[in-house]
Amino acid sequence: MTHEKGNNAKINSYEHAFQPCEIGPVTLANRIAFPAWQLNYANTDGTVSEKLMKFYTDLARGGCGLIFTGAAVVTSDGIPFDRVMRVDSDRFIPGLSHLFSAIKEFGSKAAIQLVHYGRQSSTAVSGDVLMAPSAIPCPVMSQYDPEYKVREMTAEDISHLKDSFVAAAKRAAEAGVDVVEVHACHGYMLNEFLSPYSNKRTDNYGGSPENRARLIVEIIREIREELGGQVAVCLRISGHEFVEGGLVPEDFRELLPLFEEAGIDMINVAAGVYQSMERIVPPKSLGLTPHADIAATIKSFSSVPVCAVGSILSLAAAEAMLANGTADLTAMGRAQMADPFMVKKAAEGNDEEIRKCIHCNSCTFWTTGDPEVYCAVNPDYGKPV
Ligand SMILES: Cc1cc2nc3c(=O)[nH]c(=O)nc-3n(C[C@H](O)[C@H](O)[C@H](O)COP(=O)(O)O)c2cc1C
Ligand code: SF4
Repeated sequence: MTHEKGNNAKINSYEHAFQPCEIGPVTLANRIAFPAWQLNYANTDGTVSEKLMKFYTDLARGGCGLIFTGAAVVTSDGIPFDRVMRVDSDRFIPGLSHLFSAIKEFGSKAAIQLVHYGRQSSTAVSGDVLMAPSAIPCPVMSQYDPEYKVREMTAEDISHLKDSFVAAAKRAAEAGVDVVEVHACHGYMLNEFLSPYSNKRTDNYGGSPENRARLIVEIIREIREELGGQVAVCLRISGHEFVEGGLVPEDFRELLPLFEEAGIDMINVAAGVYQSMERIVPPKSLGLTPHADIAATIKSFSSVPVCAVGSILSLAAAEAMLANGTADLTAMGRAQMADPFMVKKAAEGNDEEIRKCIHCNSCTFWTTGDPEVYCAVNPDYGKPV
């Protein structure tokens, strides 16, 4: 997507991708994001490691406009991996501050994704009886974990969880983050509340769409009240859960205005839950940009910027989606894992130097049995030995 000028200088033609983008109080230099990846690169105590620092600063040096760090857990219970980023105590603030400063030094904006894993965790790994809106086992995790146990949350649990999300957002803001993302996709806790597939409660937090959305709305509203315009607030949803009885894009016609009224500045549209795992990190068999229609439908209901994701493996594909109005931003995970310097190379007209993702999904370490993320084509993040 470059052409030669008279003096042979290369001119880039990703005109939509390289437009600035406003997310509430934050202005991004371009419309390429790196979506949250639980890399399992943190230190075992949940603090930011040297490897995490390198990973995210590579992306920032590589020109990515918005870098979602995390997911970072908001409480210490139900953590399914041994090297997850944490933000459940003030002791994590110095490391996060160091990380966000490094990202921002290169002109990128720093985001953090806040998570509770809910029922999609492991009792064997976490040592905890898992909590969820309803005591319905995750059909996937309960198969692999012989000790799997889940219980329905009490009103006190819900109130504590809400406070934990808000406290985590405040810590991230204190550490200098630009964007706080509330993780309500892929079948984790807040997605479990939102979805009739996993939420069978009969109190104020279950039943109607408004009730299922209530916890997310309360969390967003409180973050907004606490932090005002200090940060942008983003919500990540599964726009389609691809399970029987689960959420579909049309549901967001009613849900999205509730989140907008609560104060979100951006909606990030992912897909899938554990039972439809192939939608979380879509494999080659699903083709390129398989979820573009989901983002486009949700954008038609939205008055805040929409981010699309899912096998957007080239800047040309991102540019096309931005140009045709599918979304306002494009998140590119595997493409930038394969080459964290992709944006910069394209901006300088050196597309031919971009190392391409081969869509092999070796990076999904939970399916390969590897201890952390590695990439089949990026030697800087090679297979652990
Ligand atoms: C190793 C790995 C870890 C992931 N961790 C998270 C996560 O913590 N939170 C989240 O919302 N999505 C997570 N995802 C999903 C990605 O954010 C993204 O939606 C997915 O990679 C599809 O985008 P892509 O096709 O550009 O790679 C993860 C994906 C991978 C491959
Ligand atoms: S491991 Fe494979 S799918 Fe994952 S980023 Fe690398 S090349 Fe792409």
